[in-house]
Formats: sequence, C-alpha cells, structure tokens
Amino acid sequence: MASSHPTGKFDNSARAYRHIEVRPLAAAMGAEIAGVQARDLSDSAFEEVRDALFRHKMIYFRDQELSHGDQERFSLRFGPFAEDAYTKGVPGHVNVQPVIKAAESKTGWVFGAGWHTDSPFLKDPPAITMLYGVDIPPYGGDTMWANSALAYAMLSDTMKRMLEGLRVHMSMHDVLEAAQEFGAVDDTPVGRLVALKGKELPADLIRKIEGAYHPLVRTHPYSGEKGLYCDTSYAAGIEGLTKAEAKPLLDFLGAHITQPAFTCRLRWAPKTLTLWDNRLCLHQAFNDYDGFRREMYRTTLAGETPV
Ligand code: SIN
Repeated sequence: MASSHPTGKFDNSARAYRHIEVRPLAAAMGAEIAGVQARDLSDSAFEEVRDALFRHKMIYFRDQELSHGDQERFSLRFGPFAEDAYTKGVPGHVNVQPVIKAAESKTGWVFGAGWHTDSPFLKDPPAITMLYGVDIPPYGGDTMWANSALAYAMLSDTMKRMLEGLRVHMSMHDVLEAAQEFGAVDDTPVGRLVALKGKELPADLIRKIEGAYHPLVRTHPYSGEKGLYCDTSYAAGIEGLTKAEAKPLLDFLGAHITQPAFTCRLRWAPKTLTLWDNRLCLHQAFNDYDGFRREMYRTTLAGETPV
C-alpha cells in the first residue's frame, strides 16, 4: 500500500477532500483539519471530517470558537454520548467534562497520565473522545497519541497468530491505586474517586474495577483495520493466562505500541479542538507545567462492544 510511514505499514498522507484541508502531523498518525469551524460544518464537510478522523486516528482544529453547547452539538453528530467513567460534567452540560489543573495545584498525578485508551473497563468503551483547550500553559501540557493499528501491522505473523482469539482484561483498579500513590488532587475526576478509598465503594465503581474482557486485537467497525487493544494503564491480564504469563506479554505490547516511531505529539494552543478514535490509538497527558493553569473540556461518544 502507499505509505507515509518509513516501515511501509501505514499511510498517514492526506486524502484530497472537497471541503476541508488536511495537514498530516507525523508519519505515524495525526492530522490538522484546516479551513473550517467545527460548529458550522455542512453535512458533506462533516462526512469528510469523520473520514479523516478514522484515517489519521487523531485530528485537530486550531482557532475554534466553541461554547459548551457547540461542543455538545458537534459531538452528537458522531452519535450519542458515552457513559462517562469519571465526572458529572459542568453545570447545565452534564456531558461536557472539565479537565482542569489549577496553577497552584502541585500533584504527582494528572487526569490522563499514563498511556491509555479511554474507559476500556466498560463493556462498550467510548469510540471517540473530543478535547477542547481553553487555557493552555506557556510550555508543557502536551498530549501524545500512539497508533495501535500501525503497531499491530508491525508484529510478526507468528506473533499475530499467537494473539488471535486472546481476550484482555481491562480494569480501573491500577489507575485508582496509582492516583492514590502519586497524590491525585481532590478536585479532579480521579481525585474525587480516590477520596472514596477506605469507604464502601459504590456498585458502579466496583463494576469498573471488575472491568471487562475484550479482544486483544480488535477490528474497526467502519474501516475494517485491525489494531492492538491494550494499554499500560488499564490492561490487567489476559483471559486464561496466569498473571505471571500475561504480564510479560502485556508489558511487551504496551512498550511496542508506544515506541516513539508510532506516535505523534500535539502542542496545544487556546481554542484548539482535538478528536481521537479510541478503538485504534492510545494517548497520554503530561504533568509538566506546575505553576500554570490548564483548562480543557472533554466529551466522549458511545462505541460498540469491541470485536
Ligand atoms: C485524557 O486522557 O482524556 C486527557 C488528555 C489530556 O488532558 O491531554
């Protein structure tokens, strides 16, 4: 196939669209969508945006004027909102989740730290996540993504055969424990959950800790691409294997997916809007901007049971 990636295993080049301009971010994945406001897209421009999202795995728009209501309306063009695992939204907009770190907050933990796909411990994890930047630190606070379809394509045929049919156990357990250990601040999505430690856990949280089993190699419902469905935050085991057997395999896959050659990195600016396809990529946030405020708003869109 045509390829932008030096390995020949992935093509991140821009398609020629009629309504949008696409500027690839890295050889491995990611692209800027230029020339449009997300809140004002015609139906045919929207179809091109969705196609670009599935092709590039992560897309971003600069200089977007987007109220919470606009973000909700744009989100809903992709389908219904997903179950939110972490917050209850902002007043008047239950599906718009604040992701805020105050300038004065000092913490060893930020929301989104550690490579992950969103909420894979749910039976039907969110398909798409949208994040809008309002207040951005002068340096730091970037986000990285890793292309798990490219990572799958780079495995040997023997490894691909070994993984076929395996199911990964995804659980919220280790993220809660790490957030506790590294000190998630109270007024954050994870911090509020951590504050429950030692108390009787609500049934809903127990369900997320018990988690879900999903195919370790999943197939994208629209593009048919295969990708590794595994991360270094929530992947807790493999069905039928002992912990000792599963750990080295999960460690290998986690490191394999997130190697620099399979990633892209975004420098945020105020009014930047990103979307990513959780089925075929991982992402992580950085905690490297002490003394500065970072204020973002997130929505997640419902996905299917992975196959
Ligand atoms: C997330 O994991 O959704 C947050 C990413 C970020 O804040 O950069």
